[in-house]
Amino acid sequence: MTDGLFGAAAMIDDDKKAAAVAAVQEVRAGMLVGLGTGSTAAFAIRALGERVADGLAIRAVVTSDASGKLAREVGIDVLDFADIAAVDLTIDGADEIDSRCFAIKGAGGAMLREKIVAASSARMIVIADGSKQVERIGAVKLPVEVLPFALAYVMRVLTDMGAAPVIRDNYRTDQGNLVVDCHFATLEDPRATAATLSAIPGILGHGLFLDEVDAAYIATNGVVTRLER
Ligand code: 5RP
Repeated sequence: MTDGLFGAAAMIDDDKKAAAVAAVQEVRAGMLVGLGTGSTAAFAIRALGERVADGLAIRAVVTSDASGKLAREVGIDVLDFADIAAVDLTIDGADEIDSRCFAIKGAGGAMLREKIVAASSARMIVIADGSKQVERIGAVKLPVEVLPFALAYVMRVLTDMGAAPVIRDNYRTDQGNLVVDCHFATLEDPRATAATLSAIPGILGHGLFLDEVDAAYIATNGVVTRLER
């Protein structure tokens, strides 16, 4: 049983890596690359590090302190995003991705920086193992980043809109904010939900990525498929 669980986890890791390696082939010399956050993005950062070690000249910006640390460790030149207006290509993971290239992100809590870097990017690619591919997004929790000052008010508004909000335990984002995980009974109109969340004062960002993702590499049992918006 335990072997089975470890075996399944290893296969998922193999798929994350396969998707990451495929996406990293889109990186060209001279590009400024946005690096996402999470275990799948970490495979991409390592794969990109290998290409840099082989002589590929690129620079990068990162979406979290953890990704910045890893990128530097593998020899990638990391710039401060505060100085960057435009990124060529961003590669990032997702918690769910559907055939419209709608994604839910933020289980790793980095969705605010991830969305900013994605918005600045000419192109964004999601990488994922097959368990993340869904018919329609909406089953996983939808994280929102909340200014601590606004917590009680935001919780009331989210509760009123049927989001079943839960404050993430002992967690602060890289910006020092809170994450509230929401679970909507249905997410029939993601655009309406995104607009409502974006309009609530005190919510700084949320994990609905509806316009950012241009393509996805999804690996299932070692087979990588490519989805284009
Ligand atoms: C972090 C994210 C991650 O990309 C997402 O949670 C997927 O993570 P993993 O690759 O570890 O499953 O959005 O904010």
